Amino acid sequence: MSLITTKEMFEKAYKGGYAVGAFNINNMEIIQAITEAAAENRSPVILQVSAGARKYAKHEYLVALAQAAIKDTGIDFALHLDHGEDFEICKSCIDGGFTSVMIDGSKYPLKENIELTRKVVEYAHARGVTVEGELGKLAGIEDDIHVGADDAMFTDPAEVEEFVAKTGVDSLAIAIGTSHGAFKFKDEPLLRFDILEKIEKLLPGFPIVLHGASSVMPDLVDEINAYGGNMSGAKGVPEEMLRRAASMAVCKINIDSDIRLAFTAGVRRVFAKEPELFDPRGYLKVAREEVKKMVSHKIVNVLGSDGKA
Ligand code: G3H
Ligand code: 13P
Ligand code: ZN
Repeated sequence: MSLITTKEMFEKAYKGGYAVGAFNINNMEIIQAITEAAAENRSPVILQVSAGARKYAKHEYLVALAQAAIKDTGIDFALHLDHGEDFEICKSCIDGGFTSVMIDGSKYPLKENIELTRKVVEYAHARGVTVEGELGKLAGIEDDIHVGADDAMFTDPAEVEEFVAKTGVDSLAIAIGTSHGAFKFKDEPLLRFDILEKIEKLLPGFPIVLHGASSVMPDLVDEINAYGGNMSGAKGVPEEMLRRAASMAVCKINIDSDIRLAFTAGVRRVFAKEPELFDPRGYLKVAREEVKKMVSHKIVNVLGSDGKA
C-alpha cells in the first residue's frame, strides 16, 4: 500500500463514467473521516492540500497523516497539491512526497500559463508525479487570489487543445460557472454544460477537473443556522449537476466547503446540546463523524466511485 498518482484513477473513472472526489485536508480528524469513508465504500479518493493547509498544519504532518491513513485503512490514496501558485511550491510538494500537484496558472495570459505549467510538468513527470493545470477563472476566491464575480471567465474551448499539447498536463481544471466557498450563486445555479461538451469533444478521453464543486448541503447549512450560526444565502452546486458532470469527462470533483460545513455543524450541535463538555475529543469526534457521513454520501450518491478502489 502506498500513495499513488491520479493516472490510473482517472483512466478508470473516465471509462466507468464516474468521478473521484478530491477532498481538502487540514487536520487529523478530517483525514480520518475521508479515508475511513473511502475504505468503507471501497472508493478511490484524492487527499488535497492547499497552501493554506500547509501553513496551518505543516507539510510534514499532513504527509505523515496521509501515510498513516493508508496503513490504517489499507486503501491507496493520491496526495495532491491544490492550487499551487508557482513552480517553487510544486517542487517542494513533489520533493516532499506528494504524488500529484496542481499548477494554477489561470491568472496569467495563455502563453505564460503554458510556460509555467510545462516547467512544472517536466519536473513532475521526471519524478513520477502527475500534474493538473487550469484554464479559465473561477468566480470567487482562488486561495489568496481574489477574483471578483465580474471577472469570472469561463474556459475558452478554443485554447484547450493547445494548452494540453504544449504543457503535457495529465488533467485540466476548467471554469464553467462553479466558484469556491459556500456562496456560489445569487440566483438559480447554472453550469455551462455546453462548454464542457465542447471540451470533451476536443479532448477525447482526457480527464477534466471541476473546482468549487461543493453542493453546500442545505441540511448542514440549516443545522449550523439552528445552532447559532449565520450562513443565510449559502448556496452550492446541486447534486444532479455534479452527477451529470461525473458521467461526462469530469473525473475529479473538488470538495472543501462541504467538509467545513459538516465539521462546523457537528461542533455547533454538541456545544449547544452539551454545554458542560470541555474535552476536545468529545466534540472533535462528533465533527469527524459528520464529515465521514458527508463523504460517504458524496461517494455513493454523487461521485459514483463506490466499489471502484
Ligand atoms: O480552493 C480552495 C480550497 O477550498 C482551499 O481553501 O486556501 O482556505 O485552504 P484554503
Ligand atoms: P468548494 O469551496 O466548492 O468546496 O471547492 C473546493 C475546491 O475547489 C478546492 O480546490
Ligand atoms: Zn479549487
